[in-house]
Amino acid sequence: MSQPLDSNCITLTRFVLAEQKKVPQATGELTQLLNSIQTAVKVISSAVRRAGITQLFGMVGETNVQGEEVKKLDVLANELFINMLKSSYTVGLLISEENETVIEVDLERRGKYIVAFDPLDGSSNIDCLVSIGSIFAIMKKEDNTIPSLKDALQPGNKVVAAGYALYGSATMMVLSLGNSVNGFMLDPTIGEFVLTDKNMTIPNRGKIYAINEGYTHLWDDAVKEYVQNKKDPAKGKPYNARYVGSMVADVHRTIKYGGIFIYPATSASPKGKLRLLYECIPMAHIVQTAGGLASNGKIPILDVQPQQLHERSPIFLGSKDDVQEVLDIIKKHKK
Ligand code: AHG
Ligand code: MN
Ligand code: MN
Repeated sequence: MSQPLDSNCITLTRFVLAEQKKVPQATGELTQLLNSIQTAVKVISSAVRRAGITQLFGMVGETNVQGEEVKKLDVLANELFINMLKSSYTVGLLISEENETVIEVDLERRGKYIVAFDPLDGSSNIDCLVSIGSIFAIMKKEDNTIPSLKDALQPGNKVVAAGYALYGSATMMVLSLGNSVNGFMLDPTIGEFVLTDKNMTIPNRGKIYAINEGYTHLWDDAVKEYVQNKKDPAKGKPYNARYVGSMVADVHRTIKYGGIFIYPATSASPKGKLRLLYECIPMAHIVQTAGGLASNGKIPILDVQPQQLHERSPIFLGSKDDVQEVLDIIKKHKK
């Protein structure tokens, strides 16, 4: 049965505004910043939905800083994030997966926030209509000097807000302001994100593991043992395997259903694949705020001091008990 339209629905804008009003000294800049991200996400969502019709599938014919092929949607999403954020008058510096160096903002438009983002996550899934996403983390500039690289290299425990957009069977934005995690579904009939998942929490244990098992031969013994255990009926009820290959989709499922998402170090990529600033840190911030854990195998992701803009990190993220279980195995193998 279809629900009647809610004449008092909580939109994302309304939610953020209400949160802002709880902080007497708030200037409204963060609200403005989040509105600009919301606009970028709405346009990306619309572009994703129509990509096959508007010839937005396929390659640009270039590779990015990471040596990966750039898709047309990657470029469009990146331009949207940059243009919307710069014109919000709230940011002093931007970090994007698609730009080799930090993105500076003209003096007249500069604000106190710094945003790191992956404009389009899961690029390999674009052309086959599998879920993709966008990820962002928001930090504050700590002093009044001209924004530079050092302002971008802040550990995750300095993040003030983080979120992701999932362009799945519906478009959803999940936002953490550090005190709670809330999910907003895009209602295409009114063009607004509406609060649907209030106070999201991740189950303490799940029944799903997500890892690219094609790389088993490249894992270290601890990861091999953990994944083997999850499939061995002698070690408990075997888990289900699910791996989308878009971090946003895999993390969203992990938050909703519980379980674990792993992108470990491999012998081919000793630091893993996922990028610390705009993939691991924002997702760790969200998952921890929802009551889960995120570690690089040694320390919490949020405690890692980034050294480089596009630095990679192994990641073990998800339900508390599931992540703790793999960390215990890692510890045992170190002895
Ligand atoms: P991006 O499209 O932004 O480069 O990120 C892709 C990432 C991430 O979304 C996913 O978890 C991972 O790559 C999948 O990598 P594998 O194909 O190596 O499993
Ligand atoms: Mn990505
Ligand atoms: Mn990307």
